[in-house]
This record gives sequence, C-alpha cells and structure tokens, in this order.
Amino acid sequence: MTQHLVQYQGFWVNPDAALKNLMWIQDHFKPRPTDIFLASFPKSGTTWLKALIFAIVNRTRYGFADHPLLTTGPHDCFPFLYAHLYEKDRSRFDLDGFPSPRLLSSHIPYTSLPNSMTDSQSYRFIYICRDPKDVLVSKWLFMNKLRPKELAPISLEEAFELFCQGISHYGPYWDHVLGYWKANLETPEKVLFLKYEELKEEPSVVVKRLGEFLGHPFSLEEVSKGVVEEIVKLCSFENLSNLEVNKSSVLKLSTQIVIDNRHFFRKGNVGDGKSYLTDEMIKRINEITSEKLFGSGLVFGS
Ligand code: A3P
Repeated sequence: MTQHLVQYQGFWVNPDAALKNLMWIQDHFKPRPTDIFLASFPKSGTTWLKALIFAIVNRTRYGFADHPLLTTGPHDCFPFLYAHLYEKDRSRFDLDGFPSPRLLSSHIPYTSLPNSMTDSQSYRFIYICRDPKDVLVSKWLFMNKLRPKELAPISLEEAFELFCQGISHYGPYWDHVLGYWKANLETPEKVLFLKYEELKEEPSVVVKRLGEFLGHPFSLEEVSKGVVEEIVKLCSFENLSNLEVNKSSVLKLSTQIVIDNRHFFRKGNVGDGKSYLTDEMIKRINEITSEKLFGSGLVFGS
C-alpha cells in the first residue's frame, strides 16, 4: 500500500488494491448471519482450505465422481469477497444474489473488518495460519512468478527484509495472525483458528472439526462410509494440482490481475522455507516470532 511496496513488488498494478478492498468491505458489504468467512495471510493455505470447506458444506449436493472441484478452481468455487469489485460483469459476483450459506474469503486483518462482521454472533470465521518461514518463502516465489518479465526478480534478501519489517499488502504477518488468534480465544464458537501444519498432519481430524464448527457435523454413517477421507483425497495437493483446471486455467481478479491457477500449487510441504533461508535468516525470523507472539500462547516450530 506504500510507494516502497509498489517499487519492490512491481506486479501489483493498482497499488491501493488492498486499501480499496478494505474500504469497499467497510462501506458496502452487507453480512448475512449464515455467511462463512475464510481469512488468511497470503500463502498460508487459503486455496486448500477453500476446497475443503466447499466440499464439506456441499457434500450432500455433489458426488465425488463429478464434483465441481474437478473442473472449477478452488478460488472460483469460493471467491474473494472483493473479487466482484474488479469484475466488469458484476452479475457474476452479485453477492446479494449468492445463495446462503455464502462462502467468502479475504486477507483483510481481523482488526480492520467492519463491526457489522466482527460483532455479529452468528457469523463464522475460519482462519488458517502457517509457519512464517514457509509463508515468507512461498510468498517470495509466488510474487516472482506474477512479476512482469521486464522487471528483475525480487531477491530473497529483499523479500526477507520486507517481511521482517512487516511491509505487505495486509500488514505485518504477526499482527495478522494475532488478530484472529485473539478473536478465537475470545469467541471460539465464532472464530476457528487452524494451522497449516496440523491440517497436513491430521487432515481427517481437521475436516471433522470443520464440519462441526460449520454446523454440518459428519454423521456416524458418513464417517463409516469414508466421506471424510473422500473429501481429504479430493482436496489433496496431489489431486488438485494435477487437475487440468488447476494446471491450465486462470483466476481473473480484474482485467489487470490475472493469475495462473497453477501458481497456487507449488510443493505443499511443511518446513520447505528452511531450505531457502540462511541460518542467520532463520534465527532472526524465529526471534521476531518469539518476541511478537510472547505470552499469546501461540507458537510455531523452530
Ligand atoms: P508452497 O508454496 O509452500 O508450496 P495460498 O493458497 O494461501 O496462496 O497458499 C499457497 C500454499 O499452499 C503453497 O505452498 C501451495 O503449494 C500450498 N497448497 C495449495 N494447495 C494445497 C493443498 N491442496 N494441500 C497442501 N498445500 C497446498
């Protein structure tokens, strides 16, 4: 959102995009009590969780053999709240015309959301966070893929400095995570806080938790029929990243912001960030994390 950021990250054609999104939400968005809102800091596992929530909520509507996720990218099944801002054909994103429950996502920090969303008792938020080292590296590689070819790639050193200084479209990583963490501690029935790492380790457990939180608990019959495992398999990195729609089609956020769906799928591993960062970088980011999260009860591995 600053000139500094635009210079470094060049590809973001509209430098005020995040601010514009935020202002639109604050001024115009009319939440419904049944809305399901997915929030994340970019590169924390948004695409994966979109697919999982879509599959969980709609599991009685679609069979696994001809599921919409086989032919439609997760970001089109579960749009960004502000996607329609950029859409010429607004009818595609007529939020008021969306059937309930509406599935909407955003990267906006909790503390910047309008009171109409944070005060409502029935509104559901699901937040996903991820180890900052993996987020930083995933984001750096992603940004370079989106960067216009005529601009030199951003170096890891530059990306690292920006991340540590908290310069990003959605503010500092640690403030973002803490905002939703605190909301989860205060109102756990309203804000579910997930970690990418726990989703990787025990996807079936998390899928069942999601079902309960969203008011769509899995019945004993569904569990014994293997519905949970089917959802996990459908939304797995291996499955989604190999689908034609996710290999060759694009996500159109605007006429200027068009992203190849394949860029949302890289490796999908835990701890990959450490293989790019120097020991010194790892030490510094771990220190910032310990300091910022001190006393919150939220921890990440070293
Ligand atoms: P890596 O770059 O570490 O591989 P987001 O969806 O928030 O943009 O996050 C993207 C990250 O999630 C990327 O991480 C991507 O590979 C990973 N990812 C995407 N789909 C996934 C899936 N189905 N399972 C696990 N990880 C996934």
